[in-house]
Amino acid sequence: MSQEKSIQDIHFQRFGSRGRAFQAPGRVNLIGEHTDTSEGFVMPAALDFHTVAVISPANSSKQEDAAVIHSENFQESVTLNLKHLPEHSRGHWSDYPTGVLWSLQQRGITCKGFAMTLRGNVPQGAGLSSSASVEVAVAIAVLAHAGVDLPKPEIALLCQKAENGFVGAQCGIMDQFVSCCGTRDHALLLDCRTLQYDLLPLPESVRLVVCNTMVRHSNADGDYNSRRADVEQGVKILQRHLPQARTLRDMTEAEMLPYAKEMPENVLRRCRHVLSENRRVMEAAEALRQHDFVRFGTLMHKAHISMREDYQASCKEADILVELAMQQPGCYGARITGAGFGGCTVNLVEADRVPVFMETVSAAYRAATGIQAEMYLGRASNGAGEVTSL
Ligand code: GLA
Repeated sequence: MSQEKSIQDIHFQRFGSRGRAFQAPGRVNLIGEHTDTSEGFVMPAALDFHTVAVISPANSSKQEDAAVIHSENFQESVTLNLKHLPEHSRGHWSDYPTGVLWSLQQRGITCKGFAMTLRGNVPQGAGLSSSASVEVAVAIAVLAHAGVDLPKPEIALLCQKAENGFVGAQCGIMDQFVSCCGTRDHALLLDCRTLQYDLLPLPESVRLVVCNTMVRHSNADGDYNSRRADVEQGVKILQRHLPQARTLRDMTEAEMLPYAKEMPENVLRRCRHVLSENRRVMEAAEALRQHDFVRFGTLMHKAHISMREDYQASCKEADILVELAMQQPGCYGARITGAGFGGCTVNLVEADRVPVFMETVSAAYRAATGIQAEMYLGRASNGAGEVTSL
């Protein structure tokens, strides 16, 4: 077997110096989809897939204002002028690191020139937050280079701002937050309004199996933003009657019901999803605390149906994968995870049944769609930090 070259060696060969290395994980969301943008509740876990960023100071004073960023994944480098960052994204991998530098500058954090090498193994376009993992890895590397120490939740907010304000995707805080604050073998129950969170242990008797439909999605796609716009339209209608409510976080399904007739069908569906999903997250947290996986799994499946019917952010392939999974012995629950419109499903499976589950679902999915799904055994991992053992 050929040994992969270490990222430190790659950085050294390209830039002539060794650097400090930082990693940030992708994530899988157990339950709580499209609720973060309404200041609601989510329950993701950081995954054992990471982006690693190695950073070293620029070699000469001539390069004091230059950031040279090399992506091993794309086999390409970009050079940025730190005094004049590009003003717009351009649909390129470098939008994410550039957005982070822009976001840091907006907060008054500047730094001297540097060289950076990026390499990641988070599957791209699969709904596992490869972009958040790039943002967070770049942010903690640049902050360390600048000698600035910030609390993790603040780093998450800076990265979200990079994506909202520079890249142009109106994402919520979930992905960046769990990439920063995730904890091994725990799910993270996050209140997206207060940013307070609870870590809920994931026992060894169950496993998270992530199945990739192999249908690609992109967060920057109009669909994500258009669903958000539907929700905002719904909130405006509801606020006429419930003026004290700031977001859907402040309402219940029962409170919405009397005004449902005033809402266009699609707007009603989006709001119903968010309201019912917030309730499901709280119930799921309770179920997990009590080790009631049957209840947890039922809530996952209900969440999938709500994504399919009300938020309308599933896709045919994910629906097939979920229904196949639900038929397997030992599978408590299955649902599409992440923004949707493709990407992955997450499955809660009895540990002993995992090999048979993977094999059977994979074969049945291939038979139904002609697609060979990728399957990952997800282990909840720690959030971002410096790595010294590369
Ligand atoms: C994407 C966004 C998140 C969240 C999910 C849907 O992953 O980045 O903020 O909105 O979609 O739950």
